[in-house]
Amino acid sequence: MSDSLAFPTSHARMGSSSGQPLTRLDGHLKVTGTATYAADNHPQNMAHAVIAVSSIARGRVTSLDVAAAMAHPGVIEVITPANCPPLALDPDQKHGLFGFRFDALQNDRVRYAKQPIAVVVAETLEAATEGARLLAPTYDVEPARMGFDDGEHYDPPAVGIGAPPSFAKGDLAAGHAAATRSVDTTYETPAQYHNAMEPHAMVAEWNGDHLTIDSPNQAIVMSRALFAGYFGIPPENVLLRSPFLGGGFGSKAIMNGPYILTILAARMLQRPVKMVLSRDQMFGPVGHRGATQQHLRLGMDAEGRLTALEHNAVSTTSSFDDFIEPAANASHNIYASPAISTRHGAVRIDTGTPGPMRAPGEASGSAALECAIDEAALACGLDPLEFRLLNYAETDPATGRPFSSKALRECYAEGAKAFGWAGRPLAPRQMQDDEGRLIGWGMGTAMFPCPMFPASARATLRSDGTALVETAGADMGQGAWTALAQIAADGLGLEVERVEFRSGISDLPDAGVAGGSGHTASAGTALHNAGTEAIAKLTEIATADPASPLFGAGNAGVEARNGRLYHRGDETRSESYAEIMARAGMASLEGNGTGTRDPKDAEELAMYSHGAVFAEVKVDPDLCQVLVTRLVGAFAAGHVINPRLARSQLYGGMIWGVSFALHEEAVHDRRSGRPLNADLAGYHIPVHADIPAMQALLVEEDDPYVNVLGVKGVGEIGVTGTVGAIANAIWHATGIRSHRFPIRIEDLIG
Ligand code: MOS
Repeated sequence: MSDSLAFPTSHARMGSSSGQPLTRLDGHLKVTGTATYAADNHPQNMAHAVIAVSSIARGRVTSLDVAAAMAHPGVIEVITPANCPPLALDPDQKHGLFGFRFDALQNDRVRYAKQPIAVVVAETLEAATEGARLLAPTYDVEPARMGFDDGEHYDPPAVGIGAPPSFAKGDLAAGHAAATRSVDTTYETPAQYHNAMEPHAMVAEWNGDHLTIDSPNQAIVMSRALFAGYFGIPPENVLLRSPFLGGGFGSKAIMNGPYILTILAARMLQRPVKMVLSRDQMFGPVGHRGATQQHLRLGMDAEGRLTALEHNAVSTTSSFDDFIEPAANASHNIYASPAISTRHGAVRIDTGTPGPMRAPGEASGSAALECAIDEAALACGLDPLEFRLLNYAETDPATGRPFSSKALRECYAEGAKAFGWAGRPLAPRQMQDDEGRLIGWGMGTAMFPCPMFPASARATLRSDGTALVETAGADMGQGAWTALAQIAADGLGLEVERVEFRSGISDLPDAGVAGGSGHTASAGTALHNAGTEAIAKLTEIATADPASPLFGAGNAGVEARNGRLYHRGDETRSESYAEIMARAGMASLEGNGTGTRDPKDAEELAMYSHGAVFAEVKVDPDLCQVLVTRLVGAFAAGHVINPRLARSQLYGGMIWGVSFALHEEAVHDRRSGRPLNADLAGYHIPVHADIPAMQALLVEEDDPYVNVLGVKGVGEIGVTGTVGAIANAIWHATGIRSHRFPIRIEDLIG
């Protein structure tokens, strides 16, 4: 296994912490229960808010028994559209890059089930809960539009976060005409809800026009500005604390109604207010992954080379906002084809607005694409790996740009070897175990882009030879604190133990969004640059000081390591940071950095992480029950800062892939529009017994362009190859191709 993989410590940019498989620096706090999550805060005189949500999906609230709720002992206030003060920004407009429209009691309209329709604030959680129940809303009900067939179809202006809705390269008709083999296939994916372990929660407290918020958040400084905007105060007046998040997966990067209503309640009452969403309330106002219908048409020549790749996706969205799952874009950058065409459509239904959810677009899109590729290999009589190698893209298929690095070939080879892919029979239903269960092997290509978000950081060397590094990053459990501290330590030439890492609060430099798998790259580059700036200043002081052994060495002639500056030509000439600062009479020395990528490289190169996932399933021939028995993924994601945490992220992504393939599906009642499985009993996610022995191999990849650290990202890619690999393995075991996810027993009954 890759535990023994050596990482290149001789890398010019890398010091001693980077590449080490450290355990999470915050692990001890978490396992001992001393990590403080948002809902663990109990400021003095705090009141409890409970959101009342709609039980219909479309219509109007015609009455709420406010008097009954107010009469309940302990209830302090009931907020409804009748007494809800206006916000400084209109929640029906989009504000900011990740701006979403949301419901914050602006009127009596109901646009989806579980929409907030009132807030009850009480002295206790129990009183607030009972007060919300006593509201007994009545509705003017309009028929809910829930399916692809009964919503309004439209052409979205953009998909994802501002991407074009369609793309075309080459002559598609000519490509199809030139094909001697073809595949014409459709796949459906359901609505999925993020369901982070920690529900959305907030404690909000006002002091005059200053606001303090404890709430899990993936984009701390950006959200601070947005919160301030809705309440008409300057961003500096808001302190947002988010030291620990119990998962986020995208849902904690965007604004939502319950958060705004909690802050509003605290302002109306002039008391701190706590709100924690119940599990079922997470199936409405806090985002989800929209359902998709995807149609793919692939043409191949006699050798099995793609001549045309066409991928059209339709996604569900809400009646009032436009987040469209960019599923078809998954076909842009993996397989070489002279003609590629993608298009997105959308359907408005009575649902909460979907939003980014772990690998938005890539997850659903690659599920369909990788199954279609498996079908194409079969149509050509080729092994699925051979077919992928035949259609390997040496340059980015969509843009023709060279890749900044691409070790996908190595991923295929190492993954196939570890899995034992060679000798796989082409035809399905060829392998069985001793108990007569059908065995199938399938594979999928994994890919995810490497975005960077504007980020900044500060590094302060202290006179005792330690340092403080600061950036408002978010650790959702992925290990950001640890990996970022490792990067910071290397930038400063210090052991990680001598670096105090501060993060997770909005008065620190902006670390950008913990999303898009770009947090380590973005915040990490900023931290690295902050550290090297501090060291450059220290070097200037030392080399200009006749009393220093480094006098006259010049900037280029000094190396920082283990808290000392060394003369490059003569290692016996060195001095500790503390000594240099003491002689200069400095208590501290500060460096600042930003996380950027060379704009020319960003313009001219295609930057992606890649991987290959291999799955084995066993299927009971009578009951059609599917068990994933082996999963091997091999991933190349540039330089890996912490192999233990990177593998943990990849495992998480692969488990998410198992979940997508076999378990997750939000089911809505077609008539009422209500979610029927808004809990973790009915909304299935895998348990331990569903997850096999897994391997996540880290394939070495040196990328001098992606950023100064050579870091790509590992947060989302694990989902992308896995779904298709499992679906393809099920086909290989049974000969049955399911065209919908999740694949269930009833889909496999002959
Ligand atoms: Mo994410 S969906 O990039 O948090």
